[in-house]
Amino acid sequence: MIQNFLFGAATASHQVEGNTHNDWTVWEHKNAKELARRAEEKKWPDYILNGFPSPLQEENYVSARACDHYHRFREDFDIAKSLGHTAHRFSIEWSRVEPEEGKFDEKEIAHYREVVAALRERGMKPFVTLWHYTLPVWLAEKGGVMNGKFPEYFARYADHMARSLADVSFWMTINEPEIVAFHGYYKGQRPPEKHGFISLYRSMRRMIKAHHMAYRSIKDVAPEAHVGAAMHLSWFESAGGLVNDALKYLMDRFVNFYFLERTIKSSDFIGVNHYFHNRVDGGLNKNRNKEKTDLGWEIYPESMYQILKQLQKYGLPIYITENGLADARDVERASFIENYLMSVKRAINEGADIRGYFHWSLLDNFEWDSGFWPRFGLVEVDYRTLERKIRPSAWAYKKIIETWQA
Ligand code: FCB
Repeated sequence: MIQNFLFGAATASHQVEGNTHNDWTVWEHKNAKELARRAEEKKWPDYILNGFPSPLQEENYVSARACDHYHRFREDFDIAKSLGHTAHRFSIEWSRVEPEEGKFDEKEIAHYREVVAALRERGMKPFVTLWHYTLPVWLAEKGGVMNGKFPEYFARYADHMARSLADVSFWMTINEPEIVAFHGYYKGQRPPEKHGFISLYRSMRRMIKAHHMAYRSIKDVAPEAHVGAAMHLSWFESAGGLVNDALKYLMDRFVNFYFLERTIKSSDFIGVNHYFHNRVDGGLNKNRNKEKTDLGWEIYPESMYQILKQLQKYGLPIYITENGLADARDVERASFIENYLMSVKRAINEGADIRGYFHWSLLDNFEWDSGFWPRFGLVEVDYRTLERKIRPSAWAYKKIIETWQA
């Protein structure tokens, strides 16, 4: 028995709620056609092409009504409860609660109060993310993260939410600052389509400051609350030798742990989103890729153990805030969960202070620039009817939860 370990799943507002209006919505409408066209240049297995929507269809790339979780959260939480979940991670849609600069919409805030209450009624602990990728349009128009006042805007929003949801005890400020910075401010592949090292660096510095300020805002209102960030942390594995070791060191210091090490003083826990192993062998990404998900991401449970061991030295409690896979046929998910959780257990047995695991995701959802086709859910969503169907792996996960609790 591992005491008080929390088990659940994670979602994010824009990916499941439906009918959001933010910088991503704008971006999707602008890019859907081109993304569908580019998909034609790739080879796809039939089981993906026959799904709805398929990667070749424009509607795949527009979040639209998504899973309509905004209206169906109670039914979805009933499912999570039936699957043995004891906690749930979700995010607040900033663009709903502050649709205009400085004007908070109390009706939307009441919605999130209901979401929190619905979780509590079902015995699930709410873990709330303040910002999961999407920005209100007014803020994006002011330059988003690049606006010098971004940290102040974020802290004001955090303050408002902490006051409004006073009974929430776990907060995550930013989801994956590393990914926001890399894809949105370096590669220009995602909103706001900025390129280059300068904007990468500046966006990271801004988010670091924003985290510190939001942390303070929440703690001033709720000193007992636990506040952290959900970071995208990979295991960089050196294949050995001086050059590979040095490259691993540089990647860890300046990519992997850059945000973490600069925000550690304003963190009560470490939130780990873990998806990737990166083997360093005369270059990056020299993975053997024996097993892959539908998105081509390597399945490699050892990396979970290794990243958790690397995090031990920071001396903070750890929550795995995301880990999962795109697997439309549900052929890998059950063993994936089992093996990644075995890695978690191994790290716990060696003294790592790990307190919870949130599978990504409860539902199939809108996977950003990939759209709807990647199926990450413990629960399948039929995007024509919005019907939910529990996948077999969700029951396998429930069995594992019960074993840990026994
Ligand atoms: C993470 C994101 C999450 C989801 C998963 C698959 O990087 O935080 O929203 O898209 O990847």
